[in-house]
Amino acid sequence: MSFDDIAPPELLRERAFNLRWAQQPAGVIPLTAADSDFPVAPQIREAMARYVHDGVLGYGPPEGLAHFRDAVARWLTQRCGLSCTGGDVIATDSAAAAIAQVAGACLTAGDEVLIPDPVDFLFAHTISKAGATPVRVPLRPETTAAEYVAALQERVSTCTRMMWLCHPHNPLGLVKDPAWLRPVAEWAVARGLWILSDEVWSDIVYPPHRIVSVAALSQEIAARTVTVYGFSKGFGLAGLRIGAIVCTDAQRLEQIVSSADVRSTVAGASVLSQVGAAAAVTSAGSWLDGFLRHLRDQRDYALARLAAWPTVTAAVPQGTFVVFPNVSGLSQNTEELCAMLLRRAGVALVPGTPRWFGPGAAGHLRISFATSRQVLAEAFDRLDPVIAEIAEIAERSVRAHRGRSSV
Ligand SMILES: Cc1ncc(COP(=O)(O)O)c(C=O)c1O
Repeated sequence: MSFDDIAPPELLRERAFNLRWAQQPAGVIPLTAADSDFPVAPQIREAMARYVHDGVLGYGPPEGLAHFRDAVARWLTQRCGLSCTGGDVIATDSAAAAIAQVAGACLTAGDEVLIPDPVDFLFAHTISKAGATPVRVPLRPETTAAEYVAALQERVSTCTRMMWLCHPHNPLGLVKDPAWLRPVAEWAVARGLWILSDEVWSDIVYPPHRIVSVAALSQEIAARTVTVYGFSKGFGLAGLRIGAIVCTDAQRLEQIVSSADVRSTVAGASVLSQVGAAAAVTSAGSWLDGFLRHLRDQRDYALARLAAWPTVTAAVPQGTFVVFPNVSGLSQNTEELCAMLLRRAGVALVPGTPRWFGPGAAGHLRISFATSRQVLAEAFDRLDPVIAEIAEIAERSVRAHRGRSSV
């Protein structure tokens, strides 16, 4: 499949929500929510069409269809080194719901959870919804495992129950290797904490980086880890609201299933979504390879364009399809900056505000590049002159400030 063209723009404007085409004024390019602009793999569409055509759409098993669970276990075993079977997997209606189910089963009011800062808003949101408290641990691209462990150690308390990791990391784009992950996970296990590893981004990793699941690091770590997987990023299935939880501790998995209320039919993943998701991981691997090649080119293109923005720096994303430039030299208020870029350039970006990523995101913007080259180039063509003007004003104010302080 070619990634030269995005899905028909009129369909995106009708169907792409969550701060994207359908929710922006006409003409605005939304490089916002991490959702792809491309139509999904034909193998997924065909499998879903066949299933609907067969005409039986009754209840599925509460834990998920056996062929979905087996397919996810095989995929994660092959790609991320997890050692699991279908029996260790349950279907959830999205990765977001998976995280909430784990929180609902593992946390109670007064508990604390160690999370990276910055990180996707879902972490703090979900922990708070469960009545617990997120405790933020600063993470930067250059943070070593020893530094992260030291920061965890400073923040752990008698109320700490879990440590959550985002692997690969949204918004920093980091893909930590086992040498980094192992001491961090071992620290948590040694303190009797459970680990939630959100691996919804595990399909978007750029060579030479490789993804190794946290639960693949050792049996001791696997025994204390719940892995969350999803289909919204690699396969563009956000609208199907489908995801999975993997846990090889049968007791813990049973606790998650019971508290999720799937056996009563109050909750549960759509059978049709499971069919589409199972087709993704059984038949759309070569589609994903093509998507990854395109995304890698897009990443390099975005970095090259950002390099021309005065004072702006950006770490190279090792995974994910978002880049997270530091724009603090242009503006200290990224919310205002994004509002201005929307108004003046007609491009929507996500500001690095506490609401989206935590206080550790200050001075940054998030830009999604899961679109065509044409759309990304157009976005940068529109942004460049506005950024140049803002940079000029910032530079003048720095000069004026220097002038004032030297008199
Ligand atoms: C780190 C992280 N976890 C979870 C999700 C939610 O994924 P889903 O659409 O499957 O609920 C996202 C989506 O952006 C994410 O970035």
